[in-house]
Amino acid sequence: MMARRKSTRPRLVRKAATRAASKSAASKSAPPSAAATAPRVTVAIARRRLADLLRAAGCENPQADARLLMGHALGLDHAALVAAAARELPPACVAEIAALAARRGAGEPIARIRGHREFWDMSLAVSADVLLPRPESETVVEEALALLGEARARALRIADIGTGSGALLLALLTELPGARGIGTDCSHGALAIARTNAGATAAGARAAFVACDFGAALGCAFDLVVSNPPYIPSGDIAGLDVDVRAYDPLLALDGGRDGLDAYRAIAADAPRLIAPGGLLVLEIGIGQEARVRALLIAAGLAPAPAARNDLAGRPRALAAWRNP
Ligand SMILES: C[S@@+](CC[C@H](N)C(=O)[O-])C[C@H]1O[C@@H](n2cnc3c(N)ncnc32)[C@H](O)[C@@H]1O
Repeated sequence: MMARRKSTRPRLVRKAATRAASKSAASKSAPPSAAATAPRVTVAIARRRLADLLRAAGCENPQADARLLMGHALGLDHAALVAAAARELPPACVAEIAALAARRGAGEPIARIRGHREFWDMSLAVSADVLLPRPESETVVEEALALLGEARARALRIADIGTGSGALLLALLTELPGARGIGTDCSHGALAIARTNAGATAAGARAAFVACDFGAALGCAFDLVVSNPPYIPSGDIAGLDVDVRAYDPLLALDGGRDGLDAYRAIAADAPRLIAPGGLLVLEIGIGQEARVRALLIAAGLAPAPAARNDLAGRPRALAAWRNP
């Protein structure tokens, strides 16, 4: 028995050692895990895949959107993104890029995802509380500057009613170095963004902001009053594109039953708000020129013969003077 036990033990030990050795050899020769075999994903490959995803989701400009979203996720501008094309995509970015693709695919505008929007050579912060500043609103700034003419050099007082991100007021102050201005809004969230934008702009030091209904809190008379008020008829809002209907604040869109509620309020207060000889410039919606003009005339103002067209050729900025 003893001899058998003695002679058996070394065999068992050898067998175990052999099993362990063969297991170790097997594990060395086993196929590597999926992660280990996954092909290296470069920034360029990830960008192409993102563009494919966005195209499949129905985005109109998938290549450009993919470039902007990749740059946003990686914290790179366009040139740096191109330079990084062959670099491996940091694994930590994969989930973030997927989340950005889902947001864009659902219709969220790129500027909302990135948190800023270009307007008049400024990069403005935006949030869910503000309308995304639109290129056509630059027509209001152009019309005001054109009609001010030589008065541009004066120490003008400017009011921007429904200032949102502060886009109109800050653009005007940038162009009118002697001017000071005040922006109003009934949205405290919008005013917080306007103040942020003013703080990031040199001209913003000459801007102040106040919460009120249109111009109600404004005391003095202004040389220039501008406004891009909410002007979409309430019943049309459900039919707007998803990027507007679902992401611009309703407060920034809804102009009441016929879209003209804000124009009525502003026109009624205009003789008090505008200094004698002062100028009012309003952004208008499609088909609104004649009716807004009638409101301004009824308020005692003298409208310009025609509204200034935007880049698409649509009447967009209607000016009116208060008689001296
Ligand atoms: C069409 S957005 C224009 C925003 C900005 N001026 C621009 O051009 O991008 C209209 C703005 O008016 C504000 N607003 C709406 N009703 C208002 C009211 N009764 N009094 C003051 N502001 C109002 C909204 O909150 C919104 O910021």
